[in-house]
Amino acid sequence: MSDKPLSKKDFGADFLWGVSSSALQTEGAHDADGKGLSIWDVFVTKPKKILNHDTHFVAADFYHNYKTDIALLKQMGIPNYRFSLSWPRIIPNGTGTVNQAGLDFYHNIIDCCIENGIEPFVTLYHWDLPQELEYKGGWTNREIVQWFEEYVKVCANAFKDKVRYWMVLNEPMVFTGGGYFLGIHAPGKKGFDNFIPAMHHAVLCQAVGFNTIKAILPEAQVGTTFSCSYITPYSASEKDKKAAIRVDALLNRLFIEPSLGLGYPIASLPFLKKVKKYQLPEDEALMKVTFDFIGIQNYTREVVAYSIFTPYINARIIPADKRKVFYTAMDWEVYPEAIYEMIRLFDNYEGVKKILITENGASFPDELIDGIIDDHHRRHFLKSYLEQVLRAKKISAKLAGYFVWSLTDNFEWGEGFKQRFGLIHVDYDTQKRTVKNSGWWYKQFLEEVEEL
Ligand code: NOJ
Repeated sequence: MSDKPLSKKDFGADFLWGVSSSALQTEGAHDADGKGLSIWDVFVTKPKKILNHDTHFVAADFYHNYKTDIALLKQMGIPNYRFSLSWPRIIPNGTGTVNQAGLDFYHNIIDCCIENGIEPFVTLYHWDLPQELEYKGGWTNREIVQWFEEYVKVCANAFKDKVRYWMVLNEPMVFTGGGYFLGIHAPGKKGFDNFIPAMHHAVLCQAVGFNTIKAILPEAQVGTTFSCSYITPYSASEKDKKAAIRVDALLNRLFIEPSLGLGYPIASLPFLKKVKKYQLPEDEALMKVTFDFIGIQNYTREVVAYSIFTPYINARIIPADKRKVFYTAMDWEVYPEAIYEMIRLFDNYEGVKKILITENGASFPDELIDGIIDDHHRRHFLKSYLEQVLRAKKISAKLAGYFVWSLTDNFEWGEGFKQRFGLIHVDYDTQKRTVKNSGWWYKQFLEEVEEL
């Protein structure tokens, strides 16, 4: 990190600044007011899936605290708020009857944002599939394309007068890889026979979701989000370099390239040929769409070495704690140049029109002392990553915004509540909110107070 102050002005007056969150990680109220079960509601009750057996059933109780949290957003001077809609809260069985109470809840959030001068950015799917659909195979069942289209129509029609910015899927690589290959995320399925169809159907849904919103709301800005990590080889050996290319194809290229009409990166990952079994002749055309923007979500880089122990991919990631580098509580290396490299990578795709950083942030073991959280590590993290975002802005005309993950501490999936990513601390016993020093820092930055 440099000693130089960072100025918001350098990013340009149109640059969008915000914070992100998601329904399942914050809302709680998992069975309130007619909501149906999601795959996570079931997954967290299984043994040994979530650290400390935590569940998200109450979480930050955003369901009952949204007014407090949106008031804090306003107080912090954050103009854009990205959150997700819960499919089973809106359509409890995944298809069919719509739960008006669910729609009302999101109307209230959106209205509250607008009344406070905050622009809502809505993600349609942030991993909480209705469990009823999982009984029918979930993402592995091609019918999900119709199920998803129906859900998107309901949302677009309900919120069309209020929401201008939409994101279709959140990090499809993570929810298909974690949920349908590794089994560490809901619904806990494993292996290629689950992953390949789930992946293909997610690629179809990101396109169908886009087209569905656009048909109802031609003026809307519609995108989708991708996880990404800068990949570097462990050594200069050919084997490690090739392993790095494979991991890059898997983590960074798999979901965007088919949407751009480039097909799946089969040359780098021959096992992807298995997708043919699930592809229909019309799919190639169906997968292709021109998103108004893409959201990229970057936290770190991965260092990759060749391995014989991982069939097909033949690569392993060397954990940060084994590499004598500075890392966060997630064991993710603090490597600010990663975000610069990722912006460059996505900027290079001709079909990409606009790029927003829809997530970036860090988990550290915060301590609340005398009502203050002096999370200087997170503050340094944000500043050093933002310096790289600014560096990227100078070479990428497409880069248009930056959102911190996350507004409040929340349920970090398999890691439960141990990991805290918020700019606002949550005491889960009392639901008391305390803005961390990093949150005040972000406010000062947004208000263009000098000397940051
Ligand atoms: C990506 C995900 O979208 C979000 O749900 C998660 O909490 C953060 N990254 C941090 O892991």
